[in-house]
Amino acid sequence: MSEPAASPVHSSPADAAALPRVRCFSGIQPSGAPHIGNDLGAIRNYVALQDRYESIYAIVDFHALTSTHDADLLRRRTREMAAALLALGLDPAKCTLFVQSHRPEVTELMWLFTTVTPVSWLERTPTYKEKRENQPEDVNHGLLTYPVLQAADIVLYKASLVPVGRDQAAHLELSREIVRAFNNRYGPTFPEPQAVYTEAPVVLGTDGVRKMSKSMGNTIEIFAPADEIRRQVTSMVTDTERIKRTDPGRPEVCNVCQLHRFFGDDYAEIWDGERTARTGCVDTKKLLVERILRHYAPARERYAELMASPVTVDRVLEEGAERLRPIATATIAEVREKMGLR
Ligand code: AMP
Ligand code: TRP
Repeated sequence: MSEPAASPVHSSPADAAALPRVRCFSGIQPSGAPHIGNDLGAIRNYVALQDRYESIYAIVDFHALTSTHDADLLRRRTREMAAALLALGLDPAKCTLFVQSHRPEVTELMWLFTTVTPVSWLERTPTYKEKRENQPEDVNHGLLTYPVLQAADIVLYKASLVPVGRDQAAHLELSREIVRAFNNRYGPTFPEPQAVYTEAPVVLGTDGVRKMSKSMGNTIEIFAPADEIRRQVTSMVTDTERIKRTDPGRPEVCNVCQLHRFFGDDYAEIWDGERTARTGCVDTKKLLVERILRHYAPARERYAELMASPVTVDRVLEEGAERLRPIATATIAEVREKMGLR
């Protein structure tokens, strides 16, 4: 786990013990199958942090509504994402997993936050500009307000640590600005949240150029059938300057080689094999498929079990939302008081 983006925070378990009630929060959209970018960039930190802090994780269906408009699809993906997170290691005995819309207090806090957020901050958000280009037919208001809801998500629970991938840096910065604006106007109320990154804050996609992302179609999906994972890895763009098998490669720019870092303990050897042309791209890809399948085998098994028992998953989500009620209610009462709403 690397240092948070902003000023350093407590990073050893001993420090954590000395500082009670440090909360961690993150959200993930139920917008499709989770990929290894999600896991390496964020989910593995969700799992690590649940042992060290009071951790809360949301499947952010309100956010997903800005792009997914099919009710059945959203319902299905929400349950699939919950099963995926549990399969990858979230433990309901150690953390709270819930569906964002099941704790609707967040929408009230979001509204209150819109009144301290200048529109110009939202209009300059990079993800808003991207979405405007990606879905020009559907530039809904939710896309603009998206980061305000994200800020509300985090601080409704007064969380200060937020495990995310680097693509969320601008959103996190905005969350901090919104919190600062609120605290300045109404008095110190919320901690300023900080991002926590993994060793792989940006995982590149199979095209080797852009970040791995569902919307780009360049993903390696964790729970896809083995043949599909094989196809996705085989399609990866490697070192474009390595034309012949006998050409020495540049492992530092080869995404396949870079991914080996996370799926075995012989990265140095793989690196050297590519550098000296002892191994070719095809060999390195075959090995990566095997390693990914081996690494995720227990999670894939657990995912299949959970998907066969939807009540188990739904119960975890219901209990999660219920457990959060007192915190959410207390924050709303405090904020209403401070803002003159009673
Ligand atoms: P999303 O699927 O966009 O809701 O992302 C869920 C989490 O995964 C967020 O914390 C993202 O920052 C993280 N994430 C998504 N794609 C990547 C990637 N290619 N590399 C690293 N982290 C990622
Ligand atoms: N915007 C995040 C993403 O696209 C999802 C998200 C919503 C989130 N609310 C959050 C992440 C709160 C961290 C904290 O991945």
